[in-house]
Amino acid sequence: MSLAGKISVSPPMLSFASLNAAPHEFYRELRPEFPFVQREDGAFIVLRANDVQTLVSDPRTRQIETELIRARGIKGGPVMDLVSSSLLFSNGDIHRRRRQPLSRCFAFRMMEGLRPNVRSLAEELVTIKLGDGQMKLRDDYAAAIPAVTIASILGIPRCDVPFFTSLAYRVSKLLTTTWTPDDLPDTEAAITELSSYVSSLIDDRRKRPRPDFLSDYVASVDEAAEMSALEAVMQIVSVVLGGTDTTRAAIVIMVGLLLDRPDGLWQGLGYQPAMVGAAVSEALRFEPAVASIPRLAVEDINLDGHVIPKGSPMLLSTMSALRDPEVYVDPDHFNLTRPLGKWHPVFGGGEHRCLGEALARIEMEEALSALVNSRLALELDDRPLMVHGHAGIRQVDELLIHWR
Ligand code: HEM
Repeated sequence: MSLAGKISVSPPMLSFASLNAAPHEFYRELRPEFPFVQREDGAFIVLRANDVQTLVSDPRTRQIETELIRARGIKGGPVMDLVSSSLLFSNGDIHRRRRQPLSRCFAFRMMEGLRPNVRSLAEELVTIKLGDGQMKLRDDYAAAIPAVTIASILGIPRCDVPFFTSLAYRVSKLLTTTWTPDDLPDTEAAITELSSYVSSLIDDRRKRPRPDFLSDYVASVDEAAEMSALEAVMQIVSVVLGGTDTTRAAIVIMVGLLLDRPDGLWQGLGYQPAMVGAAVSEALRFEPAVASIPRLAVEDINLDGHVIPKGSPMLLSTMSALRDPEVYVDPDHFNLTRPLGKWHPVFGGGEHRCLGEALARIEMEEALSALVNSRLALELDDRPLMVHGHAGIRQVDELLIHWR
């Protein structure tokens, strides 16, 4: 009997563990019958593409603030400081003043200026790391590209990158579905260390401004005088979180999906560089690195006869929506000729649409191009691509690749 057939006519309540075990299967089975499912922590996971697209910027919703972490028993401390001070978890005017000093730097045009650096970095890594025939795709390649790039945007010395990145991964675990309350002490310690590191960078730019992003950011924060010192630090911590683990996972997933295909798609990309952008978009659709967008219902929301009550936290499941056959023809088929449009839903929508979208795309495109253009006959080792998580930031296992 199907999963949907086993349950009642009300949308089912599911545990973290069952959702994490087989998210695509759950979503595929349940989506035709139910517009949402409820998770054990009370969050409503919205499944259908049209609902996700509407609710992402709908007056019946607002961004989640501290509701999800409160539901998990967190009432204060560094996690609360981060969530209550970050642009990602704020609304209205507070969100506007937190986002504004960052937006100019992260504009598409400014990010395009970084492309040559990202390209050289990717090419350098391919030469060095693949030189002896084998490479750890996640740790030696996919992790380094966003980490070194964010570090250079923030003016962090290259020798500090491993320390700074390991803190970012420890903090970003909070935004995954494998985080448990047992992780709290480590997450708190990592937030404290990361924010004190960022705070010292900010102090340094205030004393010794130079022509870089962080000096501009500090100048614009000081001029506007609309943010506390904690908020000024936490917006940079948010950028670090948004920009490291997500793109690392996205690069591993994309390369893993493409190399796993027996149909010569990988070799085809070498002859059709224009298809690299399509490969990035389709990989983000097929197996997204971020699986959901958080929102809160500010009134009762009726979806297809089922009601999400006012005040409920919602996770708009891009992971489910991006495989909804109502919108994507033959959705479980990886297809580079699929028309996906300019505004990819994986980056969210409305005022919170991902600030790092342009950068993420550049990093993914250059990471893929450098591997394809190496003309090495790359193959996956025996271990298959493993992606974990049904919401929030997803996590990937290490993937070994080699060339013949
Ligand atoms: C493949 C990679 C990425 C994906 C799939 C992704 C996805 C998302 C999503 C779904 C949101 C929430 C949008 C919403 O609530 O409507 C978001 C927000 C955000 N992202 Fe990304 N992201 C990626 C990479 C990046 C990068 C590289 C950076 C920075 C360097 C970044 C920085 C941010 C920030 C700061 C926010 C908060 C924006 C706000 O609340 O106003 N992201 N991202």
